[in-house]
Amino acid sequence: MPSYVDTHTHLYDKVYDQDRQAVFERAIEAGVTRMIMAAEDVETSRSLLELTQKHNFLYGAVGIHPGDVDKAKPQHINILDEILAGADRSKIVAIGEIGLDYYWTKENKETQQFYFREQLHLAFRHDLPVIIHDRDAHEDTLNMLFEAQAQGQLRQENPGVFHCYSGSPEFAERVLKLGFYIGLDGPVTFKNARKLIDVARTVPLDRLLLETDCPFLTPHPFRGKRNEPAYLPYIAERIAEIRGISVADVAEATTANAERLFNL
Ligand code: NI
Repeated sequence: MPSYVDTHTHLYDKVYDQDRQAVFERAIEAGVTRMIMAAEDVETSRSLLELTQKHNFLYGAVGIHPGDVDKAKPQHINILDEILAGADRSKIVAIGEIGLDYYWTKENKETQQFYFREQLHLAFRHDLPVIIHDRDAHEDTLNMLFEAQAQGQLRQENPGVFHCYSGSPEFAERVLKLGFYIGLDGPVTFKNARKLIDVARTVPLDRLLLETDCPFLTPHPFRGKRNEPAYLPYIAERIAEIRGISVADVAEATTANAERLFNL
C-alpha cells in the first residue's frame, strides 16, 4: 500500500474532540502514516504542539493565520519565537499558516502584511520553511516573498509551500521559480476544477504536495461531510488520473517531497 504524508491538517480542531483517535486510526489504515498540523494563532500553536508530543506520526507548524491577525498582538511574534526556541524541533517543521487573505477582507491589508512579513523573518531566523495561505492575494503574496528574498530573509532551498494552491498555471510557474512547492487539496477532485486540473497536470512531480486541510475542503465523493486525512488518497488518485501515471508514483513522489521540504 502506498504511504502518504498529509501536509496540511487542523486535527487539533474541536470538531475532532469526540473521535480524534478513530480519525487517526482511519488515516493510518488508509496509508496516511504522517500528518502535519498548521496553526491559526498562538493558542492553536501551543495546543497542536502538545498533540505532537502524544503521537509519533504528528508534526506541527506554528504561526498566525491572516484571518486571525485582528486579534493578534505584535508580542505574539515574540511568544512564537520563545515557543520555537524551547520546543522539540524534530516536531516543529514549519511556520504556518501565514500569508494574505483578501477574500474575507481587504480592510486590514496592512495588518495582514505586518504579520506576514514578521513571520517570514521568524521562519528565516529559525531556518524553517513557511506554509503560505494566499487567497485572492496572489500578487501581494508573491511581492512580499520577493521582498523577503531581496532582504536575504528567505531560504534559497525549500523556502516553503503555497498551501491549497488556487492560482493559475502561469502563476504557478512564478511560484516554482522562487523554489516553492504547490499544495493540492480536495478541490482538485471537483468536476468544475478546470484551472486546478491544469495545475495538477503541469506542475513538476517533484514540487507537488498532498494535503486535506481537514476539517475543510472535503474531496469528492465525500463533499459536504467533515474532512479527515483518510480521504487524502482520493486526491492522489485524481492527480494520478489527470497526469496519466500510477497512484503509487504520486504517493512516492509527494511523500519524498514532504520529507525534503519539512525535513521529516
Ligand atoms: Ni489550513
